[in-house]
Parts: sequence; C-alpha cells; structure tokens
Amino acid sequence: MMTRFTIALLASLIALPAFAAGDAEHPQAPPQGWSFDGVFGRYDPQTLQRGYLVYEQVCSSCHGLEYVTYRNLAEPGGPGFTMDQARAIAAEHLVPAGPDQDGNTTDENGLPLTRDGIPADAIPSPYANDLAARAANGGALPPDLSLMTKARLNGPSYIYSLLTGYEPDPHGEEQVGLYYNSYFTNHWIAMAPPLSDGLVEFPDGTEGTVENQAFAVTNFLMWASEPHLEKRKRMGFQVMLFLLILSVLLYMGYRRVWADQH
Ligand code: HEC
Repeated sequence: MMTRFTIALLASLIALPAFAAGDAEHPQAPPQGWSFDGVFGRYDPQTLQRGYLVYEQVCSSCHGLEYVTYRNLAEPGGPGFTMDQARAIAAEHLVPAGPDQDGNTTDENGLPLTRDGIPADAIPSPYANDLAARAANGGALPPDLSLMTKARLNGPSYIYSLLTGYEPDPHGEEQVGLYYNSYFTNHWIAMAPPLSDGLVEFPDGTEGTVENQAFAVTNFLMWASEPHLEKRKRMGFQVMLFLLILSVLLYMGYRRVWADQH
C-alpha cells in the first residue's frame, strides 16, 4: 500500500536536482584522486616539492603565502626539504625589512626597504600593498593562497579544476582583461591562465603537463592550509582505537559484574 509518506519520498527523489558535472558548483578532482582524503590520508612529499616549484616559478609572482614560513618547508609531514635547503630558499627571496638604524623605512629611491629572507620569514606577497596588487592586475586582487583550499567549497578539487578549466567562452564572447573559466563563480576571472604545458620542468622526471602542474600545486596549497593533517588523522585513528578497546573492556566488565544477578 502506498502511504502518503512513500509518495512524498518518491516525489522528492524524482525532484532531486540533476547533477551537472563540471561547473562552478561541481569542481572535478583529478583522475588519480587526492592522497590526503580519507582516514589514512597523507601527503606525498615528492608531489609537495613539485608543487612548491610550481608555486615558486609561477604563482608567487602574484600570490603570497602569509601563513607559511620558509622553515615550515622543512617540517615533518610537509615537502621534506632539509633545514639547509629551507634556509637557502629563504635567502633567495627579499622580504620587507624594518626601519634601518636611522629610522628610514625607504631607500634613496623611496622604495620600501627589503632584506634577504631567513627561515622564520613568511612567504611574502610580491606587492607592497593591496592597491599596488590591484593596479598590476587590472583592478583585481590576487588573494593570499595560504588558506585558499579552505576558503572554497571542495577547495582542492576547485583549485585543480580552476587551473585546468580555461576554455573559449561557449558563446564566442570576449571581455577585456577577463578570461572564461567554467569553474569560476561568474565565469569571467581576472587571472590569465597561469599554466601551460612545459612551463615548469620537474627535476624528478614527471611530465610538465598543465594537469601535472595543477595537481602538484594544489597538493602544495592543501598542505599550506593544513600542515598538520597527518598528525591530526593519526591522532583521530588512535582515539577511535582506544575508544573501541575501552568499549570492549567495559562490556566484558559489565557481563562479569552482572553475571550472578539473574
Ligand atoms: C599574473 C598574476 C597571477 C598569477 C601568475 C597567478 N594568479 Fe591566481 N589570481 C590572480 C588574480 C588577479 C586573481 C583574482 C581574480 C579575480 O578575482 O577575478 C587570482 C585568483 C586566484 C585564485 C582565487 C579564485 C577564486 O575562487 O576567487 C586562486 C585559487 C588562484 N588565483 C590560484 C593561482 C595559482 C595556483 C597560481 C599558480 C599556478 C596562480 N594563481 C597564478 C593573478 C595571478
């Protein structure tokens, strides 16, 4: 007999919104999936190193990572650089400096003072301030990428899809300074396609396709937003195991205490 409830249930199932794959609301993960998903999720240091290379050679000319320090690059659960490598990477970059001994904050040309980076420095934005960043990018602000994988729904898949999702506008339209990307909310993004095949060459022999570059840099950005993921997941697993064993012990204790009571 069809109750009113089953009819309502069936109706709601039929009315479920059709899943249109590949638009702003449904970003797609890369075919190989994410190693950091799931209870035993972890990062692959090799991939994170390739991702840092992509960030460094491409994205860092417009985006900073204000919550990541060079020292973090050498911490466990991350890209696995040695402390010496992290120090060398830091020293290759200029970071904003404090006032000199005369209290000057700018040099003789009026430019803000800078100094060589040290491991404790955060990875700086390439621009002096947001206005300078907008002025260089046709009015749009390249956001800091430290927490980007957390700031968007399905962050990693979104970023991967965005980086690989540039295409000609299906209606043949063009807009000055904007690029069509089906994964961006209103489809027109002020970031020109940052990746192209062969743009970054990976020393470990991984082919430098757009997909491989996007995959690596997304892994790196996920690590940047959640550097302690492995520790957190391991701890969660241990807690679950502990609770399970405790439940068994409690149950056995309960059986024993009440064994003679019936
Ligand atoms: C030439 C400068 C430039 C480069 C290089 C660049 N971006 Fe961007 N990016 C921008 C600008 C400008 C925006 C803001 C776009 C807008 O709001 O329309 C942006 C926005 C973004 C966003 C946010 C999209 C959103 O949902 O709001 C992400 C994620 C991003 N970039 C990732 C990257 C990554 C990863 C790289 C390196 C592979 C990169 N960008 C390289 C200029 C750049």
